[in-house]
Amino acid sequence: MVDEDTTFQLRMDRYGPDLLNGLTAAYGDAGPQLFERLTAIMRGAFAARGTDLKVLDEARLLSPDWVQRPGTIGYVCYADRFAGSLAGVADRIDHLKSLGVSYLHLMPLLRPREGENDGGYAVADYRSVDPRLGTMDDLTALATTLRRHDIALVVDLVLNHVAREHEWAVRARAGEQKYRDYFHIFGDRTMPDAYEQSLPEIFPDFAPGNFTWDEEAQGWVWTTFNSFQWDLNWANPDVFAEFADLLLFLANNGVEVFRLDAIAFTWKVLGTDCQNEPQVHELTQALRAVLRIVAPACALKAEAIVGPQDLIAYLGQGKHFGKVSDLAYHNSLMVQLWGALASRHTRLFEVALSNFPAKPANTTWGSYARCHDDIGWAVSDSDARGAYLEGHTHRAFLSEFYAGLYPGSFARGLVFQHNPVTNDRRISGSMASLAGLEAALHAGDQGQLSDAIARINLLHTAILGFGGVPLLYMGDEIGQLNDYSYVDDPEHASDNRWVHRPRMDWDAVAAADADPGTPSGRILAGLRHTIGVRKRLPQLHASIESRVLPSPDSRVLVLTRDHPEGTLIEVYNFSEDMVELPTYVLRSRLGDAAVEQISGYDYSLSPETLRIRPYQPLWLTAD
Ligand code: GLC
Repeated sequence: MVDEDTTFQLRMDRYGPDLLNGLTAAYGDAGPQLFERLTAIMRGAFAARGTDLKVLDEARLLSPDWVQRPGTIGYVCYADRFAGSLAGVADRIDHLKSLGVSYLHLMPLLRPREGENDGGYAVADYRSVDPRLGTMDDLTALATTLRRHDIALVVDLVLNHVAREHEWAVRARAGEQKYRDYFHIFGDRTMPDAYEQSLPEIFPDFAPGNFTWDEEAQGWVWTTFNSFQWDLNWANPDVFAEFADLLLFLANNGVEVFRLDAIAFTWKVLGTDCQNEPQVHELTQALRAVLRIVAPACALKAEAIVGPQDLIAYLGQGKHFGKVSDLAYHNSLMVQLWGALASRHTRLFEVALSNFPAKPANTTWGSYARCHDDIGWAVSDSDARGAYLEGHTHRAFLSEFYAGLYPGSFARGLVFQHNPVTNDRRISGSMASLAGLEAALHAGDQGQLSDAIARINLLHTAILGFGGVPLLYMGDEIGQLNDYSYVDDPEHASDNRWVHRPRMDWDAVAAADADPGTPSGRILAGLRHTIGVRKRLPQLHASIESRVLPSPDSRVLVLTRDHPEGTLIEVYNFSEDMVELPTYVLRSRLGDAAVEQISGYDYSLSPETLRIRPYQPLWLTAD
């Protein structure tokens, strides 16, 4: 038997240097002292960690690739909109299991401020649960139940800001210097004006500017997002110590993956856009080390919606290789999927993916087509040029297309945060409404309906096939449409992202289950089937990269995943056309005979062309 002290000491030997180096790089001379403080916090949390979680720690240490396996399927939902409450989520496990889910992200569930709270991203207390959803005991009970079903619970850890009503902010306003130092509060406009010179605006529409005058605090408070979300001062070691403690508290309550919300914004440097600063990665390295020492079963996921060159650092580059987040959102994939559907052209997709830096093999993308946020058209000017497009014009086209304004558009989306200075227009809307289902049902047109369902199937298949954790977004499995009733709720009316955050329609799920011939039934049955196929394909392990093969047809994307057990080639037709695809690209890698894994059919690749149906995906392996 290895005793607990030895286990702790071995982990300290392994990860202590990562912790100390991260802290020293961020905090200089204050680093070693903070390290001592954290050692005491970690010892306490390690002693308090439950036996079943310690067993999970040991199991995960034996399977460090647990999140990378093809069997990992993610699902994202709001506990209340999905099942009423945390306890209710446990009653819906059957539905999750029917989709093969093993990773469940419940949207913000810690106690938010009253009233408007940015969908829970304005947290007033990280140690208690939103009373409308349940209690911390309910959260622990749910995590335990999920774990018994091999489902890992994923929870947001909002790092960049707290609610104005959080105790730290309350005490700052009451004049306690210790807590004023947790935030960025300025007595006059000198510094805010200086920072604003180089800061972008995140919510230009409903929260213009990055600073808010607070009468009680007698100062300008840094508020990147809404005025009620106060940015934290991570340059203060006390803030780090608080969050290390919170992280371990939540890990000991059963959270297995932490979504590090808005992590890119946590370190501010005058004269920059205050995103992706190198210190952000030092802090993540230190947080990860804390987690590996006490709770190695847990993983970190970076929510950094930034450009590819900046994004890759969140999975570890240079000296942070293998030392920061385990997962990150592949925002670019999402943008390119929608871009290719609108333009029926895959050249930009090819260019963007080809220019995308490779990630460390032990890290994992979260691949998704829709989530709770809007879609920002993150297409770089240089990628656009590589596809013979003009970046600005193409982004404007995508906004117009998905707002349903472009002639012939199948999409029904809403413009989110129009910035008149940059003319940037982000888009809200559910997967089904953006993919044409809403318009097709409205028109009562069978052809349009088939195309819309095929687009949804294409999107789901592409995220399942990319190699990462596919993140299914609540309601998309039955093609739920935009929910325009958000305007009736005063807490939501000004934020049209609520149009794609509907309540789960369980009657529709039952109907889809009962009749696989309805639109919802077709979507659900197709998705379940493809998930089953994904789970048995070793090529979809996330350690392998999806690489672009130059496509012989501009409407079709061809990806290859080269695995020691054989190559998988994925073919996606992004148009409503029947395409005769020249087979030489496929033949050169797979030979004359292939198996299409989704249908299970044998394909001969000896003919010069292969017929691909509108929006059809193919996953081909050598026979
Ligand atoms: C993240 C969330 C988004 C929220 C923002 C501020 O981007 O996904 O919903 O508004 O952070 O917390």
